[in-house]
Order: sequence, then C-alpha cells, then structure tokens
Amino acid sequence: MRKALVIGNWKMHGLSSRNSELVEQIASGIEDEAFSSVDIGMCPPFVYLQAVATQLAETAIAVGAQNMSQHASGAYTGEVSAEMLVDSGCGLVILGHSERRAIFGEADVDVAAKVQAALQAGLLPVVCVGETLQQRESGEATAVVVNQLEQALSGLSADNIARVVVAYEPVWAIGTGLTASPEQAQEIHKVLRVSLYDLAADTADTVRILYGGSVNAGNAQALFAQPDIDGGLIGGASLKAQEFIAICRAAA
Ligand code: G3H
Repeated sequence: MRKALVIGNWKMHGLSSRNSELVEQIASGIEDEAFSSVDIGMCPPFVYLQAVATQLAETAIAVGAQNMSQHASGAYTGEVSAEMLVDSGCGLVILGHSERRAIFGEADVDVAAKVQAALQAGLLPVVCVGETLQQRESGEATAVVVNQLEQALSGLSADNIARVVVAYEPVWAIGTGLTASPEQAQEIHKVLRVSLYDLAADTADTVRILYGGSVNAGNAQALFAQPDIDGGLIGGASLKAQEFIAICRAAA
C-alpha cells in the first residue's frame, strides 16, 4: 500500500560535467514502467540543484536538497531556505542526516524546526534517525531512534505526519560497507512504525520508512523485501549509475 521510494544522496561529491553524465545515465536507464511502483529522487549539492532539476524536468525523478535552513529569510550567511529550494525545482529535502548532527552540531530541536519549515513550503521532508555503534552495543538503539523521531515530529498534526518520510540510517552502517541485516533493519523499522502509530494512529501506515547505510545492488532486494522497509536512502551507490538503477529496480 506504500509506494516504494529510493533517494540518492550525493553528499559533497560531483562536479557539473560528471553530474550531467550521471543524471543522463540514470534517467535513461530506468524504464518508464518502474515509476508506477517506485518514486525516485536525487539530492545533489545545493549549487547543482537547479541544473539537475532542469535536466530532470521531463522525467518523473524528483530533485531534493541535503539540508536547509529552518529560517524563512534574513541575515543567515551561507544558509538556504525552503522557499529557495522550491524555487530551484526541489520537491524534497533530507533533514537531520547523522553527518549534519555529528559534524555540524544539528540538534533535535533544529531538525524539528526544519521539518515544520519544509512542510510549510510544500517540500517532502526526509527525516533521518539512527544510532551510533556505541549506542547499539549498549542496548540503546531503540530508545535513541524513537526519541529522535518523536522530537523531529513533535507538534505536527496527523495530516502533516502523513506528509513526512522517515529514513533509518544506523550511523555504523553509513559508508562503512557494514549494512544492517534485513532482520536488524526490520526490527528498528517496526519500532519506528509503532511510534508513528502512537503519534498519529490514522496515518502511520501511510508513512514511508527508508533504510540507509551501505545499500548496494547486491543487498537492496533483501532489505526492501522486509514489511516495514519502503525503500532506501542511498549514499555511495547513488554515484554509480548502474548500481543506483539496480537499486531502484529492486524497490519496484
Ligand atoms: O544518506 C545516505 C546514507 O548516509 C548512506 O550512505 O550508502 O554511502 O552508506 P552510504
């Protein structure tokens, strides 16, 4: 009942000449039929959003940003607002990625403010949660992700919760080649689904929960076959056209 969603997060990779080749290869490599069962998005760095959006304008592939400001406008040097993202052709935005939290000090309260600003601008927020290896080893994984989810969605109506995508990304699996097993991932996705029920019983079933962390063409199918895994947030593998296409096909 939930349509699969696969999003490529390019992180801080790519220059314009290589980007257009990558976008072209992916756009032409995914058969039109695939789009009836999977939504696809690509998140390049800010400076390339408009160019990628223009290149993808005739396709069903959405463009998204990797972050945004919680503020609408003003003296915030170096920041980009939700409205600017929409104006640049974005339909979605990744929020609260663990790299933003760990490297740039983004707190749950910032993530929550960004989620609200994104929704207000009509963007689809992709809210990331995930535990560190230390938190997992000390048995805190469930409590950590539930807390992150509750904080990020605090104050939202059930209707707005239905307009959010959640991405579970165990920090220890990001860029390490150490993917969570399908069972490990499903266990946390199920916990997140139950939390969504607590927050918005009527709409929890419609919210897509993506898995991210070393997803590749070889492990995608088994992950996506889990009942509460509705697609993936793909880092490294989204920079390789054939690999990303194979992951999108696995979700279709
Ligand atoms: O946003 C994407 C995730 O951080 C996963 O990255 O697929 O390179 O492990 P990865």
